[in-house]
Amino acid sequence: MKVTVSRKAHFNAAHRLYRKDWSMEKNDAVFGKCNNPNFHGHNYELIVSVTGEIDKETGYVIDTKILSDLIKEHVEEAFDHKNLNLDVPEFLNLIPTAENIAVVIWNKLRVFIDLNKDLEVTLYETPRNFVTYRGE
Ligand code: NI
Repeated sequence: MKVTVSRKAHFNAAHRLYRKDWSMEKNDAVFGKCNNPNFHGHNYELIVSVTGEIDKETGYVIDTKILSDLIKEHVEEAFDHKNLNLDVPEFLNLIPTAENIAVVIWNKLRVFIDLNKDLEVTLYETPRNFVTYRGE
């Protein structure tokens, strides 16, 4: 019997989507307004889900306080009010699209979640645009 436990979190961050090895014209064509050289911000909404068996002693799959503290320490403190391109080392050579941000968050959290549990990260860049990564 597997149950999924989810925790919502939030951070504000700025980014710019572009490739240094492409011309401004090509970056504009591919990334549009997200190639604005002066960066722009998003209110990111995050849902982190852990799926596993219920522990017989505690009745928990994962203590939500532990999950909340992990997200606070490894995601919110690392990303909130940051410029993802300039301030976050993971994006020095990785375009900070929602897809790549979700993968970076998953990799940061995976090491703290028991291996017999599944981890899923859903990241909303806008209320209508969101991505999901499950480590596949
Ligand atoms: Ni953007």
